Amino acid sequence: MIFRTREQPWEHVDVQEQTLWIYALPVDGLTEADVALWRSGLDPGEIARADRFLFPNSRIEFTAAHALTRWALGQALGVDRRAFAFLPGAHGKPAARLADEPAPVSFNLTHTRGMVAVAVSTVPDLALGVDFEALDRNVDLKVADSFFGPREVAWLMACPDEDKPEGFLRLWTLKESFIKATGKGLTQDLASFGFEVEAERIYFSGDIPDDPDMWSFQQRLIEDRFLGAVGWRRPERGEVKPAWRVVDPDELPTD
Ligand SMILES: CC(C)(COP(=O)(O)OP(=O)(O)OC[C@H]1O[C@@H](n2cnc3c(N)ncnc32)[C@H](O)[C@@H]1OP(=O)(O)O)[C@@H](O)C(=O)NCCC(=O)NCCS
Repeated sequence: MIFRTREQPWEHVDVQEQTLWIYALPVDGLTEADVALWRSGLDPGEIARADRFLFPNSRIEFTAAHALTRWALGQALGVDRRAFAFLPGAHGKPAARLADEPAPVSFNLTHTRGMVAVAVSTVPDLALGVDFEALDRNVDLKVADSFFGPREVAWLMACPDEDKPEGFLRLWTLKESFIKATGKGLTQDLASFGFEVEAERIYFSGDIPDDPDMWSFQQRLIEDRFLGAVGWRRPERGEVKPAWRVVDPDELPTD
């Protein structure tokens, strides 16, 4: 066994300015009727996007992810969840706005089959990325070379066979959390950085003039079925403290 992330759905930390909340909302088992009331908190653009999905599960996941995000942002700033507007950046990363001004909050959301999640912090302009994947997701180890660098592939291939799919997903979610934190998505060269998985540590090739010590990453196994990774670049002042929490669907407002 190479590793086991511990399930820590609720870690007690003092809630303070520098807390980074990672809220995970299980959505398997929810029906369209269950999420219908959450739609009232979304804006017309979000509702239109939800309705464009062909499959009910995708509509449910999208609606849940956006309802969770609005709820989490509202909690963080103590404002009505409907007050937020979202503006995509150059490569599609949305930023939150309040009354036509940038909201003093950072966030990033993710959806995967059966789970949605959002990372939120009131540290403004925090480069922040989150990715969740289902552990039972089909993994094709033959494509590892296309996404991972030689050191990462060597680490993966040294894992016992039964751990390789989880190892693949650990690398995948860490890499996704970084390209989502920078906001560059897949325009970020995947060969320009890599991860020491057990240390949850990034390294850069010469192409990125960045300092690994400025970056922090955490991974968690959530409900034994999902792997979550969050990454953030250290803010100018202070330390960001992550706190993971599984949210019950009943906690989200429906008015
Ligand atoms: C778009 C991308 C940023 C994330 O895609 P994804 O993993 O399919 O989707 P996730 O569910 O984790 O995240 C989607 C959310 O991220 C946000 N997002 C969109 N573009 C983003 C960007 N450039 N940076 C950060 N976040 C972004 C959005 O909120 C989006 O949700 P929404 O459309 O409902 O608002 C990008 O990384 C991608 O296309 N990945 C594809 C998978 C891949 O090949 N990964 C290689 C890993 S080694």
